[in-house]
Amino acid sequence: MADTDLPQALVQRGLRKELMPRHVAFVMDGNRRWAEARGLTTAEGHEAGGRALKKILQLSVAWGIRAITVFAFSQENFRRPEEEVDCCMELIEQGIRDEMEEYTRNGIRLHVIGDPSTRPASLQDAVREAEEMTRNNSRFHMILATCYSGRWDIVQACRELAAKVQDKLLNPEDIDEAMLAGHLSTNVLGEFACPDLLIRTSGELRLSNFLLWQSAYTELYFSNRMWPDFDEDEYLEALKNFQRRERRFGQRKPSSQESN
Ligand code: IPE
Ligand code: MG
Repeated sequence: MADTDLPQALVQRGLRKELMPRHVAFVMDGNRRWAEARGLTTAEGHEAGGRALKKILQLSVAWGIRAITVFAFSQENFRRPEEEVDCCMELIEQGIRDEMEEYTRNGIRLHVIGDPSTRPASLQDAVREAEEMTRNNSRFHMILATCYSGRWDIVQACRELAAKVQDKLLNPEDIDEAMLAGHLSTNVLGEFACPDLLIRTSGELRLSNFLLWQSAYTELYFSNRMWPDFDEDEYLEALKNFQRRERRFGQRKPSSQESN
């Protein structure tokens, strides 16, 4: 679809172009329960989750969203059985290798965020290759949070700032919110580092250590669908719901004097 067809395609789906989120984050939850309900293995659940992600990425690009950040594997997920951890690492690596060409063709830049030291070497190689191969793309940013946690992100930013203070490049009193945000891993997105909308599937109502700092003013949407069943219709529901929200960022509305 050409970019010029965008507004019409969005209107047909009941969306308004000017109210589209620029950055959407996803907690892709429910793969195991989806598989269990169908008598499938957990690995098959994660595979189905990968297929759902591919579709959601394509839709996001087609609808003119600028970035998605997806929680593929948390630091806490390392506490799962070894077999499942290995399976997830392999699926993530394979997914990156399989999609690299398509990302390049479609102007998608891949960023992988999270603690690289906890990733298998072959996954790290795939990440480096894909980030390098897509680095000149700017139409869309795909941020894959792998071996990531929100608290880790804040801690690693603090360490970088502390090192600068130690090297006398920075005074502690000069550290402000913008500077700390500038050291978070989502800073690769610049002005839209903070998601406008965060969608979590599977009916769980929590953030689970995802983008803690970045979600301070993010609109939250919880879907009861398991992630492999999160499809175009459900994504549209979330976006329509988002477009009905009034975002005030703690300020008063200019027209009325209503608060919060
Ligand atoms: C999400 O699905 C995928 C990962 C966190 C890796 P889950 O594996 O958490 O599935 P449920 O929540 O147990 O159903
Ligand atoms: Mg889960």
